Amino acid sequence: MITCPGELAPHIAGERHVEKVALTDVAARFGTPCYVYSRAALTAAWQDYQQALAGRDALVCYAVKANASLALLGLFARLGAGFDIVSGGELARVLAVGGSATRVVFSGVGKRHDEIAAALAAGIYCFNVESASELLRIDEVARVHGMQAPVALRVNPDVDPKTHPYISTGLKTAKFGVAIDEAPELYRRAAAMSSLRVRGIACHIGSQLLDPLPAAEAAAKVAQLADLLHGEGIIIDHLDLGGGKGIAYGEESAPSAADYLAPLLQALAGRREKLVFEPGRSLVGNAGLLLTRIEYLKHGRERHFAIVDAAMNDLMRPALYDAWHEIVPVRERAGEVRSYDVVGPVCESGDFLGQCRALTVEEGDLLAVLSAGAYGMTMSSNYNTRPRAAEVLIDGETAILIRRRETIAELMAAELPLPDVAPTTPCPPG
Ligand code: LLP
Repeated sequence: MITCPGELAPHIAGERHVEKVALTDVAARFGTPCYVYSRAALTAAWQDYQQALAGRDALVCYAVKANASLALLGLFARLGAGFDIVSGGELARVLAVGGSATRVVFSGVGKRHDEIAAALAAGIYCFNVESASELLRIDEVARVHGMQAPVALRVNPDVDPKTHPYISTGLKTAKFGVAIDEAPELYRRAAAMSSLRVRGIACHIGSQLLDPLPAAEAAAKVAQLADLLHGEGIIIDHLDLGGGKGIAYGEESAPSAADYLAPLLQALAGRREKLVFEPGRSLVGNAGLLLTRIEYLKHGRERHFAIVDAAMNDLMRPALYDAWHEIVPVRERAGEVRSYDVVGPVCESGDFLGQCRALTVEEGDLLAVLSAGAYGMTMSSNYNTRPRAAEVLIDGETAILIRRRETIAELMAAELPLPDVAPTTPCPPG
């Protein structure tokens, strides 16, 4: 398992490689910007969870939102993963790669009627319900379809996950889940609804958690709730403890799955419920990088800029969360080290991938933005009418194109011009 960002792309003969493939060759074949993933690293991250959970009745549902590439989903499906989805679109992706609906949990605060119906029809394992209104809606949709919907309530245990405020979700102030003290009453109502089948309790307190204790604290509260419900005859089959395990983006040390899960498993020792987990970032984050080429170097009075061909539309995390990703040259070169802001071509001051990075580079050099496998491609956009990046999976000596670069024609393909303004009509004078 990769424990520090640079491990994905070590130097071999002076040049960074992913597995046995030189990143220079990837850029030459597929162009830049380009996301590059390692099959071996993805598999190792999966196995890290499997080993940590050996001997437990546990289901690991990969959180599709972290990286929804069909190739990656197919790989996880073959490894035996379940999936955590948050939309009908993500369900379609899982089914498209042959993922089993019976291992799918459906999270998210805003499930639409059609999405609930599609998930029911597919036969998913469980709906993670986030409000009283949603409970009523799922009951109604299930009744219309003559089915019983398996449900868990996502409870909000009010535990501080000690992470970035934008990605902490388990506090009282969050839009997610229902307050844990209101859950018993909702469970009673759910148990009385004829088209629902209470199956579990779910909780997810936040993302990029490096300290395992908040998750263990949340698990203990969830277990207490299960006991209380059991006393009332409401039997809980599984406890879904969400995702959230952090990864190393820089020097910080991230726990292995075993280290992260140890206090949680300790808090749940001796319990009979099946355990469900929803990791996203920790399965894919350190298994991917964003490969980009320097277009220009610009030496301002105050700052030096390396203007690259990737931008905030490709990797939004630095602009959105001030997230730090390590940026390394693909080939080391001798020369003056300068402090660069690595920026993209988008017309926003927030369009940076890294600031104040000590680099020795020339125009035309390739850079690798590390730890970009999670929430990179999935959060990318077409801002500034920029086609989204290509994606390549490295498997040993082979580089496989898993998503080709979008074309500009594709970016316009879904749009309809006003009937009286044909696209070729020149603008009227004035
Ligand atoms: N389960 C639920 C209900 C979630 O909301 C999430 C992530 C996960 C599982 C997976 O969490 P993970 O294991 O990846 O931490 N875009 C942000 C992260 C947003 C996380 C949203 N929910 C980022 O780039 O840091």
